[in-house]
Amino acid sequence: MSPPAAEMARGRPRLAERYRAFLPITDATPLLSLGEGFTPLVRLGRIGGDLGLAHLSAKVEGQNPTGSFKDRGMVVAVSKALEAGARALICASTGNTSASAAAYGAAAGLEVVVVLPRGQIAAGKLLQAQVTGARVVAVEGNFDQALRIVRELAESTSHPITLVNSVNPFRLDGQKTAAFEICDDLGRAPDVLAIPVGNAGNISAYWAGFRDYRAAGLSAGLPRMFGFQAAGAAPIVLGHRVEAPETIASAIRIGDPASWTKAAAARDESGGLIEAVTDDEILAAWRDLARLEGIFCEPSSAASLAGIRRLAAEGRVDRDATIVCVLTGSGLKDPKTAQENVSGLLVADPTAAAVTEILGW
Ligand code: F0G
Repeated sequence: MSPPAAEMARGRPRLAERYRAFLPITDATPLLSLGEGFTPLVRLGRIGGDLGLAHLSAKVEGQNPTGSFKDRGMVVAVSKALEAGARALICASTGNTSASAAAYGAAAGLEVVVVLPRGQIAAGKLLQAQVTGARVVAVEGNFDQALRIVRELAESTSHPITLVNSVNPFRLDGQKTAAFEICDDLGRAPDVLAIPVGNAGNISAYWAGFRDYRAAGLSAGLPRMFGFQAAGAAPIVLGHRVEAPETIASAIRIGDPASWTKAAAARDESGGLIEAVTDDEILAAWRDLARLEGIFCEPSSAASLAGIRRLAAEGRVDRDATIVCVLTGSGLKDPKTAQENVSGLLVADPTAAAVTEILGW
């Protein structure tokens, strides 16, 4: 017999309801949902085995509705924007924030404007914003310049517009939920949380989330926060702004992170580190996640595993530690990088014999 309709409709709770006690949600907040959050923690058995790490897993954030972790923060930021009477959203982006803003803006019936560095956005992300109806302005500049423009616009225009980059505190509030989920899945906080760092909001949000959860008595311990920037875009590692950041990991091609101070505090307070990984290390980790674990993430996401691999090779991680690598976005967003890094098709005549021959069986 099928379950009663009410039960079916109830389904799983919405993310903002599940963690409402930790979010700025009130009875006056119109709650949106595209089904964000509740992403899986997947054991990296083969890669962990190769590295001699017994408890290595990945938080697969590409399984969010628009294919990245941004949806956790965006659902809260857009709900709060609606509550405040906003009629439009604006953001700068390396691609994922804009895809998320465009989707939640569409669902909320808001005008969405995204300002992007021209020619630097992965094809899938750009299309996500366009298909969901955002107006896309491409500027001849980098992400840092685009962010400066939207901050200035949000302050100066009389248009009823809300800035939804992670300088909007509701974004970081929502992104804390990933830390809560990890603690719920593990039954405690991990020993190490490894994460890519771009504009530095996510590492800051995770750290706040782990602290909030422990303070509420819902988890034991706190992780060491290990952040990884791409070597050509590593301002926090270098200790100074990078004027022309360059890396294959376009999502984290950022030279002047907005949450720099918060990220440095997360590193220091947790006894963690923020280091750089090369594009080659990122691509090797990205390829192995797909080939050894079946997880197709976007290249930037693989910076977390690239960093852990480097540290493991240098004997700088405890083999028995519980380590979670955050894989921030889906590989489907960036088909060009994928295409450039896979071997070609095997082409055969349409017969079993021809296919057998080309396979060398
Ligand atoms: N991974 C992916 C896939 C991202 O899209 C981003 C940031 C990060 C990691 C870094 O997170 O900025 O919080 O340190 N993307 C932003 C954007 C900048 O515009 O989509 P962060």
